[in-house]
Amino acid sequence: MKSVLFILILMLTGPLNLDTYHGRNENAMRFKGSEPVVTCGRSGLCRKADFPIGVAVDVSKLIRDTDYRNLIVSEFNSITAEQSMKASVLHPGKDNYNFNETDFLIDFCRQHNMRLHGHTLVWYKGIPKWMEKFKGDKNAWDVLLKDHIQTVVGHCRGRVRSWDVVNEAFNDDGSLRESIWLKNMGPEYIEKAFRYAAEADPSAMLFYNDFDLESRPEKLKAVVNYFRSLKAKGVKIDGIGMQMHISITFPYLTDINLAAMQIEEAGFAVHYSEFDITMVKTGKLWMMNKHLLRLQEERIKEVVAAYKNLKPQSRFGITMWGLSDADSWLYDKNDHDRPLLFDTKNRVKPAYCGFLKGLTE
Ligand code: XIL
Repeated sequence: MKSVLFILILMLTGPLNLDTYHGRNENAMRFKGSEPVVTCGRSGLCRKADFPIGVAVDVSKLIRDTDYRNLIVSEFNSITAEQSMKASVLHPGKDNYNFNETDFLIDFCRQHNMRLHGHTLVWYKGIPKWMEKFKGDKNAWDVLLKDHIQTVVGHCRGRVRSWDVVNEAFNDDGSLRESIWLKNMGPEYIEKAFRYAAEADPSAMLFYNDFDLESRPEKLKAVVNYFRSLKAKGVKIDGIGMQMHISITFPYLTDINLAAMQIEEAGFAVHYSEFDITMVKTGKLWMMNKHLLRLQEERIKEVVAAYKNLKPQSRFGITMWGLSDADSWLYDKNDHDRPLLFDTKNRVKPAYCGFLKGLTE
């Protein structure tokens, strides 16, 4: 009797929404009831913006996957390599550099009139094994750092527009993060890295890049003060990358804007360098429905719209950290997260419409 009643209720109210959007029911994202969830079509984001719109790419996918390549060329005008320009790929042996993927990207960008942003010269991760194990005094480490930076930047001179010279060197409390560089060279490694990069290509724009600058005031303050004083000493540093790995609920837009404005006020260009908007909270994907996708759309719209309030010369651009949700570093790590503008089949998501509205409205 109970089950008959249950089936009757189901028939009257429609199926229970147990869809967590794990690829099992992709269409659920596009239509719920009669209302279309996606309210716009593809229209070439980079042609709607007066600042560069970038995407992090996987070079092997760019070579073999035509859809991926075409979508990138039609929507974006700036490229960051997700892996290919990290030391682990570029510098596999002490006397061995490998520029195959970088050269591919240089050609690709030239062919399609896109900007190439180099990521990243000095980081505590993404280091080849031999470098991690390297033994030597401060001077030997200095020689190693200089050789790495000047060989890489020298090779790309005039062809790579800008570099993340140092990535993620600060802790949340504003202190310097432990790394092979800090351990072996002391805090001066940061200044040296910028000097070596500027010597190797005086025309490249040089960035410091980090995460959570919008949500950790102490970290932001330490970073801005540090690079303001380096600049005052005559070191070339042009901008600061806010990675912008944010979520649909956190942090407040006000905090994001305040961070960007403080960076601008200190005289630096602002790059939203690795933008994605996670839909995961404490390890679990929120139950996917149109309301959640709308929240992500609104979130992107407000962030992009507010970015336009920066001065034109401060707007280095907004770079998405991957093309489709399936390409995202968070997809596997985070319960099939949905943090980007295109779904796992490269179709426009509400998030894409949010980006477009943020640019145009
Ligand atoms: C990540 C890539 O997305 C992953 O695929 C890779 O396994 C590790 O690196 N901050 C950065 C990026 O500066 O280089 C990181 O990219 C993500 C966090």
